[in-house]
Formats: sequence, structure tokens, C-alpha cells
Amino acid sequence: MRHNLAMRILGIETSCDETAVCLIEAEGDFGPSFEWKILGNALISQAALHAEFGGVFPNLAKREHAKNLVPLLERALKSGTQLAAGSWQPDNYQLSTINSILEREPELHASLIPFLRHHGKPDIDAIAVTYGPGLEPALWVGINFAKALSAVWDVPIVAVNHMEGHIIMSLMDTKSPDQHSNVLQNVRTSGKLADFEFPLLALLISGGHTELVLSKSFGTYELIGQTRDDAAGEAFDKVARLLGLGYPGGPEVSRLAAESRRQGIPLHTPALPRPMLHEDNFDFSFSGLKTAVRRLVEDKEVSDEDRMGIAREFEDAVADVLVTKTMRALEEYGANTVLVGGGVSANEYIRKQLDAACQLQATSCKLLIPPPELATDNAIMIALAGYFHALKKEFAAPETLAAKGNLAL
Ligand code: KG4
Ligand code: ZN
Repeated sequence: MRHNLAMRILGIETSCDETAVCLIEAEGDFGPSFEWKILGNALISQAALHAEFGGVFPNLAKREHAKNLVPLLERALKSGTQLAAGSWQPDNYQLSTINSILEREPELHASLIPFLRHHGKPDIDAIAVTYGPGLEPALWVGINFAKALSAVWDVPIVAVNHMEGHIIMSLMDTKSPDQHSNVLQNVRTSGKLADFEFPLLALLISGGHTELVLSKSFGTYELIGQTRDDAAGEAFDKVARLLGLGYPGGPEVSRLAAESRRQGIPLHTPALPRPMLHEDNFDFSFSGLKTAVRRLVEDKEVSDEDRMGIAREFEDAVADVLVTKTMRALEEYGANTVLVGGGVSANEYIRKQLDAACQLQATSCKLLIPPPELATDNAIMIALAGYFHALKKEFAAPETLAAKGNLAL
């Protein structure tokens, strides 16, 4: 039964190569009374499609989002028992509004109109959609989808910063009824805020970002360091390609590295550099590391054992730099909470190294990392961030809402 103070938020994420739609119910202000649960969640990863390009191909991503959004909406609403029977009989004005919103999305238009005609308005209070950062053609599909739903159902839109979504996801203490099932797929997954204190330091590591962000209070963010070239996830993806592995590269490189550690194979390769490790700032650089790996493999016979050793040395190098600089920033800014977010935070070795470094910290240090399946892109994080904005009635004006590929926190 729905509590009368609870809000239901539909979340939409299309910034990169995951198309995701979810329905959550949340209640309470930012604090101990805050609670949420998943009512429905549906996600399609396009990773396999982009694999042959060795990275995300923006127009392919756009097309796939357009194809996937309506079926995902249907699935998310269905498991949230919000797929209401009904019929929509738009007048000419409504039809022309929808037509103009979806002018550039013919494929989405073709699947959305029949869906809308056959279903009633679900019981939701707001639609949260990612408007940046990310690939603009991909972001636009989600935004236009949200605008169309908002116009038909008369529900406000919250525009969400994808990186804030990762931060808020990492602030959650999630509870799944079954430890062994995928948290995301379980509609009984629920959560509260983790027990932590501000200021907190967020290490955001994804395919497009590597940033250290200081947050002194909820919703305030100060960028204290970032990558000067490639993002950590991008480096994993490029190194995977150099090693002849699939996309996304992170999990593949990590699997080889783990195998090398398990077999205890001594490293044959010269140690890779630890870029900017000793520089007196909180910036990163990963493109030199990728070049160093290229030199090791280019025009050479590379054995499977070499490949494993390189993967391990690369992962060690990335972990070293990330952990060392994060710990240094923690001390410098007097923070006791480290939050890790973004796809690379699914990396088991990096998680372990951060955990070990936190244990060694003189003052008690709290490490917040979401379960791996919530670390990579999903719609739950967007709906959660959207909820807090909806509480403050921070809604977007549909006429001016636009994709912002380089949106900062
Ligand atoms: O946050 P995310 O899902 O999408 C972006 O917003 O970019 O992050 C995707 C990135 C990819 O570069 C992928 O290779 C990396 O996260 N990644 C990993 C792992 N899982 C995903 N990197 C290292 N180890 C992993 N286990
Ligand atoms: Zn992301």
C-alpha cells in the first residue's frame, strides 16, 4: 500500500550505452528517515553492440535507446503494477504537441503513440531524466521521451545530473531480500541512507569521468581534481582493446589481472608508470599509461601469460594512483567519508585497495561503495537523485530542457 507521504518517481537513463527505466517509491527528507524501494526496474545494455567499435558509437546508441525505451517502460511499470489499462484519445492539440516533441525521434514516436493509446496514466509524481553529462544524441532521446510522457500524463520533469546520480547511489545502504540475486533485478530491493558524515570526498570513476569532488553538505559539490586526458574507465577500455579483449574493457582486464594474481605468475613486464602520483595536486592522467601498454604489445608476439601480466600491472597502476591521491585528499580536506561512484567502482581490486587504505587511516574512515550492479549506469540512481530535487520542487521547464553533454556537477 502506498503511504500518503511517499513519492513515486519514474527514472530514465540514456546518457551512454545503457537504456534504463525504473519506478521507485521514496519517502522522507535527506536524513535517517529517508527510505526507498524499487517497484520496477528494466535495463538493456548495448555493450555487445558497441563491442565491434571498441567503444560507444553515439548514433548507434541513440537508435538503440529509441528502440528500447517503450518496451522498458512497459516492463518497469508492469512489475510496479502501474501498467494501467486505459485509453488515451488525444485531441488535435495534444497530438501536435507530441508530434513536435518527437519530431526528431521517429522510431520512438512510432512505438510510444500506440503504447500511450492503450494504457492509462500510471500513479507517479515525477519523471526524472538524465540531461547530462553524456553523449548528446543519446541524452536527447531520453529527454524527449520524458517530455512526451510529461505532456500526456501531466507529470513534472526533474532534470538530473548523471554524476550526481552516481554520488547519491553510493550514499545508499541497499538491502536486497536475497543476497545472491542481482540487487537491480529484485523488485524487493530497498534502501536507506548510509551512516556517514559530511564533509565527504567522492571519487567518481567512469567511462567519461575521473574526478575527486568534495561535498560539505548535501547537494553541494566542489571539484578538487580531475583527469587531464583519459578517464579511468576509458583507459581500461583502451587497454582491453590493445590486449585484444572485448568491450567494455574494465571487467575483461580485471578478470585477466585477477587470474594472474591467482596463479602467482611473476611479472615479466617492466613496471608501468604511475602518472602524476607524486605531483602536488589532485589531478590524474591515464593516457600515458595506455601508451606505455601500447609499447609493450605493439608489433610483438604477446603470449597469454604476458597479457595477464600486463593486465595486472595496469590495474595495479590505476589502483595505486587512485587510492594514493584519494587518501591524500581525504587528509588535506579533513574528510572522514570516501564515496566511490561510477562504473569503475565495480572493479573488485580497486574496491579492495581502497578498503585496505581506509583501514590503515589513523582516524576512522568510512568507505561508501554501491554493490557492483548499482555502480554501473542504471535508472535507480537517476530516480533517487530526482526524488530529492522533486522534494524541493526543483522541476525543469520542458520548453527549455536540453541535453548538456559536458554538464558539470
Ligand atoms: O558509469 P558507467 O557505467 O558509464 C559511464 O557513465 O561512463 O562506466 C562505464 C565504465 C566503462 O569504461 C567500463 O569499462 C568501466 O566503467 N567498468 C570497469 C568495470 N566495470 C565497468 N572498469 C574496471 N573494472 C570493472 N570491473
Ligand atoms: Zn555513469
